Amino acid sequence: MKHIAIFVSGNGTNCENIIRHFAHSATVRVSLVVSNRADAYALVRAKRYDIPCAVMPKADFNNEQKLTALLQQHDIDFIVLAGFLLMVPHFLIARYPRAIINIHPALLPKFGGRGMYGHHVHEAVKAAGEHETGMTVHWVSDECDGGDIIAQFHTPLSPDDTPDDIAAKEHILEQKYFPFVIEKVLEGIEEMK
Ligand code: GAR
Repeated sequence: MKHIAIFVSGNGTNCENIIRHFAHSATVRVSLVVSNRADAYALVRAKRYDIPCAVMPKADFNNEQKLTALLQQHDIDFIVLAGFLLMVPHFLIARYPRAIINIHPALLPKFGGRGMYGHHVHEAVKAAGEHETGMTVHWVSDECDGGDIIAQFHTPLSPDDTPDDIAAKEHILEQKYFPFVIEKVLEGIEEMK
């Protein structure tokens, strides 16, 4: 059994979708949800499925002893960032090589980096007049949104799409493909570009 932890900061639609996807899996269990914010709605969602939850404010998150003790306590061997807005500390990347992945709501390397999260991304896509957007799943490295790309999914845009329309189109891809990509990565298939 692989035990995965999901790191979240906000609403948690991806978190819930991943929990549901693996709810009856014989090989993968969502064993922990960790948020840096106590008021993240993702925690409400996770508790509905009886998933153990932890709140780790930024200072705790950067505390190697605290964070690794928590993950060890739940036998975590794989980490999924699903709308998690802090940088992952280097000690965690070193402890979990090729075992931390992130979802980004655009086609990296465009529209990535510091400050590019959530609605800011969709507004930037609109401002750039892009003809398409999409989602990227990538390995987490020390560079913000800079790790190797695992999978990307595209969706066309029309000129009159608003940032909200762009977000809605991209969100459909996240709901449809993110759990599937996680499953494939855990099966050892690392690249779906
Ligand atoms: C998702 O769209 C995810 O791609 C994005 O935050 C949203 C979280 O939604 N992630 C980033 O912007 C990371 N830079 P959710 O909490 O409902 O899953």
